[in-house]
Amino acid sequence: MNAKSSRARTVKGPSTVLVTGGAGFIGSHACVELLDHGYEVIVVDDYSNGTPQVYARVERVAGRFVGAVYELDIRDRRALSAVFDRHSVDAVVHFAAHKAVGESTRMPVEYYDTNVGGTIALLSVMHAHQVHQLVFSSSCSIYGDAGRGALDEATPARPTNPYAMSKWLCELILTDVCRRCPEFAVLCLRYFNPAGAHPSGLLGEDPRGTPDNLMPYVAQVAIGRRERLSVFGGDYPTPDGTAIRDYLHVVDTVEAHRLALDHLADGPGLRVFNLGAGRGSSVLEVIDAFGDACGRPLPYEVVGRRPGDVAELVADASAIARAWGWRPARDLAAICRDSWRFQQLNPEGYAGSARRPNPKE
Ligand code: NAD
Ligand code: WQD
Repeated sequence: MNAKSSRARTVKGPSTVLVTGGAGFIGSHACVELLDHGYEVIVVDDYSNGTPQVYARVERVAGRFVGAVYELDIRDRRALSAVFDRHSVDAVVHFAAHKAVGESTRMPVEYYDTNVGGTIALLSVMHAHQVHQLVFSSSCSIYGDAGRGALDEATPARPTNPYAMSKWLCELILTDVCRRCPEFAVLCLRYFNPAGAHPSGLLGEDPRGTPDNLMPYVAQVAIGRRERLSVFGGDYPTPDGTAIRDYLHVVDTVEAHRLALDHLADGPGLRVFNLGAGRGSSVLEVIDAFGDACGRPLPYEVVGRRPGDVAELVADASAIARAWGWRPARDLAAICRDSWRFQQLNPEGYAGSARRPNPKE
């Protein structure tokens, strides 16, 4: 413990939380949020898309230590079980998954295996250890091409790729498990487009290879790692012809997870909430906002549509506002500002940064 731990608030929800995928983009920010609020945090990650270098930064930002970290694949039930044997876990926040839509169309079996198989392995180990509280990372992608206007949670799921289908299958499995095993309490959070970075500049999105997602790509154009952005489609039925998405600051995203942990105790069963800002921004608006953040206009060219993209995806996130009072506090300008700060301070991402000494790894 150090000086910063004095600002940790009293834990309202479960006290020891296992974070799967805690070395990833959202998971690392969630670790900070939970440590900041007095939770004990245990992480499991196989580093397929995260890096152990992130823990030293998490601890620096939070001013507290992560309880333990384990390099394991969540599908390895024996290894996962040993973690539950060793720690008295109260609840799980489950981020670990593969998330690239395009890749999922080329590797559907791997996506179902990791995302659905991994979730089943986790549920099975949790159940065997009498741990029944879970916050699950779902995705707006389950709505598919649902049309224009803000989408609420009653919008029918129409997944159009294996990644989205894997998330929808997990939701179906979790729904049925909760119906049949009344001891389970599960909160599914359907994120729209989490983006941005921690305001400290120490944590952010560090994709491997060429970024699939808009915001990290724009950030790499701004820092000069990439020449220009290709805008996928200028002929959508939107005001400026480019596609509209609902970008949500990653810190707002993880605050909702901490609230979810507090509310797991409200009762058993499964509840689903959208997580979004409820405001859409077009690709050109994002390029402008990032240009404002970095102080120069960013080069782009409009190219053909990306297969599978839809014109507009915007959340109706009023249900979670009504239920828990959660509303995003950070706008697109803050997302771009924080993302740009991270990119400037870490032009090559986490590569080369110090690792945390961890005898338990
Ligand atoms: P990320 O890839 O940065 O983080 C996922 C982490 O899980 C990585 O550190 C990876 O190494 C780990 N992981 C993957 N497979 C694993 C396995 N079998 N065992 C153990 N660890 C494993 O992704 P993210 O953006 O932080 O997303 C977190 C979650 O949120 C995912 O479930 C994703 O599907 C979901 N989600 C993300 C977005 C988004 O735009 N980032 C939107 C909606 C939903
Ligand atoms: C945003 C907009 C692109 C890159 C994905 C998943 C979704 C969820 C969030 C996990 C789109 C355009 C992008 C580029 C561009 N993830 N774009 N040039 O596709 O809305 O959602 O991430 O659950 O499931 O599908 O996010 O950031 O890839 O794209 O013009 O180089 O930016 O066409 O309109 P997307 P994104």
